[in-house]
Amino acid sequence: MSTSVPEQAAKDIRPVSASLLTPQRQAVMRRLLTEHFRAPIRVLEIGVWQAAGSTQVWLEHLADGSELVLVDAWQPYASQEDLDGHGGAPSSWNYNAMDEQCEAAFHAAYGRVRAYQQLHRQTGVQIHLLRAPAAQALAWMRDGAFDLIYVDGDHKYAQVKSDLDHARRLVNPHHGVICGDDLERLPDEQSLALARQHLQRDYLGAPHRFHPGVCLAVHECFGEVQMADGFWWIHCRDGQFTTESLPKSAEINP
Ligand SMILES: C[S@@+](CC[C@H](N)C(=O)[O-])C[C@H]1O[C@@H](n2cnc3c(N)ncnc32)[C@H](O)[C@@H]1O
Repeated sequence: MSTSVPEQAAKDIRPVSASLLTPQRQAVMRRLLTEHFRAPIRVLEIGVWQAAGSTQVWLEHLADGSELVLVDAWQPYASQEDLDGHGGAPSSWNYNAMDEQCEAAFHAAYGRVRAYQQLHRQTGVQIHLLRAPAAQALAWMRDGAFDLIYVDGDHKYAQVKSDLDHARRLVNPHHGVICGDDLERLPDEQSLALARQHLQRDYLGAPHRFHPGVCLAVHECFGEVQMADGFWWIHCRDGQFTTESLPKSAEINP
């Protein structure tokens, strides 16, 4: 197993934090990865930001010889509806700051990748950094290419739906996992109705507190998934998507 890059390798950029991943979610991801993939695998991460959150979980726990493809547009992507908090509860997220920092986030991500590569030279995980909108980058990739796909890019409905449609095609059909961030609510009729009214929103704040696009797209692409603390996952086994063969939410809660 590889060690992660020292945090000082890249500067933290304020006010948006370097890692957008909670420690609880990191624990779930770590468990899913280490229990189900012990040999080298191919991983696709959509949504990297500063490569300080989810990326570090993969780098710490992937077997040496694995390949990690990191895709991010690193371009402003807030919708006017999110900036205005229009037509629903406002989010406390600082969309302007995130959009202003996307260039710096790209440099920070590159810095962390470089630092990892300098530390590991010929060993460790091979990392490929791809700066492109996911819809375009994923269209070039071949079916069944990845054992693990992590979806954490643009959370608005159309983009998540596009990422998940590609993920279904790109995942190893024999034994592959698709997972992602920010599914705070398992889809139910009330959440889905709300989500359909807010297709251009990233997040709906209090009293709803969830990412409507993630909820709707996950429901449309998979129906049922497992989820713990907003991190969700589903297994593809023998060409079928199933929640039966991986740990259940209740078993994996950190
Ligand atoms: C929630 S952040 C990812 C956080 C990261 N996984 C972590 O753990 O810190 C979402 C990322 O999606 C990226 N993004 C937004 N729209 C995108 C698109 N169309 N294609 C690829 N990436 C996109 C943003 O640049 C941002 O870095």
